[in-house]
Amino acid sequence: MLRFFAKARRAQKTEAPAYDELLARIDKERLPRHIAVIMDGNGRWAKERGLPRYAGHSHGTEALRLVVEQARELGVRILTVFAFSTENWKRPSIEVSALMELLRKYIAGETARLHAQHIRLNFIGDWRELERGLCLQIEEAMKVTAANREMTLNIAVNYGGRQEILRSVRKIAEKAALGQISPAEIDEQMLESGLDTAGMPDPDLLIRSAGELRISNFLLWQLAYAELYYTPVYWPVFDKTQFLLAVLDYQKRGRRFGGLGE
Ligand code: FPP
Repeated sequence: MLRFFAKARRAQKTEAPAYDELLARIDKERLPRHIAVIMDGNGRWAKERGLPRYAGHSHGTEALRLVVEQARELGVRILTVFAFSTENWKRPSIEVSALMELLRKYIAGETARLHAQHIRLNFIGDWRELERGLCLQIEEAMKVTAANREMTLNIAVNYGGRQEILRSVRKIAEKAALGQISPAEIDEQMLESGLDTAGMPDPDLLIRSAGELRISNFLLWQLAYAELYYTPVYWPVFDKTQFLLAVLDYQKRGRRFGGLGE
């Protein structure tokens, strides 16, 4: 497996088809409506260059800009990216602070640009537990862009898939305890309506960079039928071409949703 990824990484450096050629191959009628992304490999990218991990995250923010732009240009409706997990608090405090600072900068620098492109900026996860100043910034960015319909960019911060499901289950349990619903009435729709992505279609495609083959507590409920795409490319060097490669790979898949075909 390691040899496969090493070979693939070398191949992508030299043999990735040209951007225009890939773009021409995209079938606009079969785009994933919702794409989820685990932006992995920032640390390894930095380490290989003798840079601090912060530099990897900083370059990763640039990659995110490119991917948002490309998703919007293609006509993808929803992009959900994993920026900070509930488990990431275990990292050294200097790295956690750097990530929070990048988030502050991203919101301060990007909200106007996203708004001008009619992109709704939405945050999912327990972001209300973050430092108050950052929460206010998030609330404001969400408010300003709330009515935008071109695309939704969900940024998952202090997010955990299990925690999100638990939150929804608690809301349902409260209603049951008050006698407002009976256990027999609890269905998938009710659970979904308590998730942070309520009202959004599930991701059709999950992209994970840097060669890891895990879901890592991301959108556990919503990814039930997503197509998974893994690439050895580190996130800081993931670009528009890489994004098109992922979408093209998705377009080769036959989606059956447990049945015999679409
Ligand atoms: C995983 O790479 C990445 C993260 C934990 C953070 C992702 C954050 C960004 C791309 C930038 C900040 C985002 C916004 C929205 C401003 P890793 O550090 O675990 O990489 P490694 O596995 O190589 O160590």
